[in-house]
Amino acid sequence: MKSGYIGAAVNRVDGYLKVRGEAKYAAEYQAEQLCYGVVVSSSIAKGKIKTLDASKALALDGVLQVFSHENRTSLPWFDRSYKDEDQPPGSPFRPFYSNEIQFNMQPIALVVAESFELARYAATLIDVEYKAVDFNADFLNSQEKAYEAKKGKSGWKPPKSRGNASKALKHADVLVEATYFHPAEHHNPLELHASTVVVEADDTFTVYDKTQGVFNSQQYLMNIFGLSKAEVHVKAPYIGGAFGSGLRPQYQLFMAFMAAKALKRSVRVVLTRQQMFSFGHRPMTTQQLSLAASSKGKLVGIKHEAIAETSQFEEYTENVVNWSGMLYDCPDVDLSYKLLKLDTYTPLDMRAPGGATGVYAFEAAIDELACKAGVDPLQFRLLNYAEQEQNEKLPFSSKELKACYAIAADKFGWARRNPIPGQLREGDNLLGVGMATGVWEAQQQQVMAKAKLSPDGQLVVSCGTADIGTGTYTVMSQIAAETLGLPIEDVSFLLGDSDLPMAPLQGGSWTASSVGPAVLSVCEGLKEKLLKEAAGLPHSGFKGAKVEEVLFKDGMLCLKGDPSVQLSIAALMKQRNLAILEHQTASMPDPKQSQYGKYTHSAVFVEVKVDAELGNVQVSRVVVAVAAGRILNPKTARSQVLGGVVWGISMALEEESVMDKQYGRFINHDLAEYHVAVNADVHDIEVIFVEEEDDVINPLGVKGLGEIGIVGVPAAISNAIYNATGKRLRALPFTLDKLL
Ligand code: MOS
Repeated sequence: MKSGYIGAAVNRVDGYLKVRGEAKYAAEYQAEQLCYGVVVSSSIAKGKIKTLDASKALALDGVLQVFSHENRTSLPWFDRSYKDEDQPPGSPFRPFYSNEIQFNMQPIALVVAESFELARYAATLIDVEYKAVDFNADFLNSQEKAYEAKKGKSGWKPPKSRGNASKALKHADVLVEATYFHPAEHHNPLELHASTVVVEADDTFTVYDKTQGVFNSQQYLMNIFGLSKAEVHVKAPYIGGAFGSGLRPQYQLFMAFMAAKALKRSVRVVLTRQQMFSFGHRPMTTQQLSLAASSKGKLVGIKHEAIAETSQFEEYTENVVNWSGMLYDCPDVDLSYKLLKLDTYTPLDMRAPGGATGVYAFEAAIDELACKAGVDPLQFRLLNYAEQEQNEKLPFSSKELKACYAIAADKFGWARRNPIPGQLREGDNLLGVGMATGVWEAQQQQVMAKAKLSPDGQLVVSCGTADIGTGTYTVMSQIAAETLGLPIEDVSFLLGDSDLPMAPLQGGSWTASSVGPAVLSVCEGLKEKLLKEAAGLPHSGFKGAKVEEVLFKDGMLCLKGDPSVQLSIAALMKQRNLAILEHQTASMPDPKQSQYGKYTHSAVFVEVKVDAELGNVQVSRVVVAVAAGRILNPKTARSQVLGGVVWGISMALEEESVMDKQYGRFINHDLAEYHVAVNADVHDIEVIFVEEEDDVINPLGVKGLGEIGIVGVPAAISNAIYNATGKRLRALPFTLDKLL
């Protein structure tokens, strides 16, 4: 097989393992004498535990221990601050720290038994007496308590205002003022959060954890338990979805590890679906927008103020309003972002955190403004197109958004749109179309990778990154196979193991754009080494040849200028007596990147059918064009964007974690009552990748695709609902009651 893997629609290299059930997840690892932990959750939102009586549970034969604040061991963690890679400013939640309750469903005990069933039963026998105190979980009725966020979590940029928006708004021809809301939402990956902690014969620990970053979990355990790197190994070779829920170590990791260490036995803890609603979520946010335009549709003023929830103990921030400053050409912009502390758990990054929500409100408001000005919404966006990144006034490393608009509009048939709402009917349904822009950051992180070539031509490339379903295994194998000119069947890529070279969390859409360049670089390094070995052979025609003069193809090295000079890797390694040839390298962003705005863009066009009498909405058609630099694999890339669009539909029509203000608990905490889009909600979705060259972003020209797919979709749906019905819905999700 010849090279040419990069850009090819290669099937997932881990596909067979997954469909055959051979890919093992964190809760599927076995160990000798494995025991099982079940978490007991608090039933109050705030207060103290007066008594925790575990005697009935402990009396059962086979119950090994009940861990709680009363008998926890003293740990380094409890005495000093600790860090995780996705930690917001504040004081992280520490399970079993004391008898204090900070949020409803706070884990208060872990019951460990010989069998899962016994542990689950024993957990029901724990008697807890609380002293409950008043709390506040009422976001909408305490907005006056919001305060300006000063510090943020890493990656958060305080919004930058410019010009004088108030003045521009006062004198504008066309003005739109509207308030938007989205509820809390939960990630709900299929795989529940789970940790299996295996105690090895040499007293070290192997931890199978559901995480987006094995090094993050490893460091977390090392800090808490005062262990060295050699004592704790974390593995997560397969992840059943995470979407941000695995960015921070979740409490089952701590609990399973504490139990295993204390009992000197392997322990597994799996959270229940209900408990999956007891940690981070997309934060409820209210957004107030005032937009002004000239009568011809030129944006003249933007005011965007957001208030988002956080917990009492951490200040979770996300870039919600910043997009409104960067996306269009507008002289006067006023942005503000505030936090409101509630007695709940800290929110957590969820696919396109801040972007999925901020761009939703902004792009819906832009549609309101365009319609009010009597300008076609697509035309409006072209009229205000930003040739420069507007917040920092930087050139874009690349931006093919115009091509996205043109290609998607054409495929969709946008020209046939009827600008007057409520005109089109098909049977019981009102038909409408809408569009929106999507945007997300393109980032690169520092990553290390290692490559090992054996004499039979098998290449193993490794890096401790993750594959949460995104296709990391596949695209990295493609890059390695193409770079070294090997058949992809001879390449393995290893990830999800803290013994492998260092990589950051898989998140922020940066894996392809960070690990990809590291894989490229380590394979190029290996090429140099191979050539050096070849040049060292007696009578070698490769003497003095430079690497760019040599073709690596089909497991052979061959001089481009004289194809008769060739040598197979196997022969070379044999003649040089090499058992293994290896190389390790780090790749990091080029400093010149900081002089550019680096983003992926999309144009989303949507058709909806709204039942005129019943109010239910169907998203009958979506065309989305994405500009995300070079596409490594159109098949896995399409899946990423499809998944994002489906989630956008879900966010627009279904998802809402309902806070019971009386109990401070998310009340619909299961998949029966927390609605997500299912097959019946998903119709025609067309994904188009627009060509985009970028030689700034990284040596591969790859921007990353994990998050752009969802951004813009809810706004396009809301805009299409307006076109269908003449109604502006401004609170997600757009359930039928809001349309009646
Ligand atoms: Mo993503 S929300 O950065 O896992």
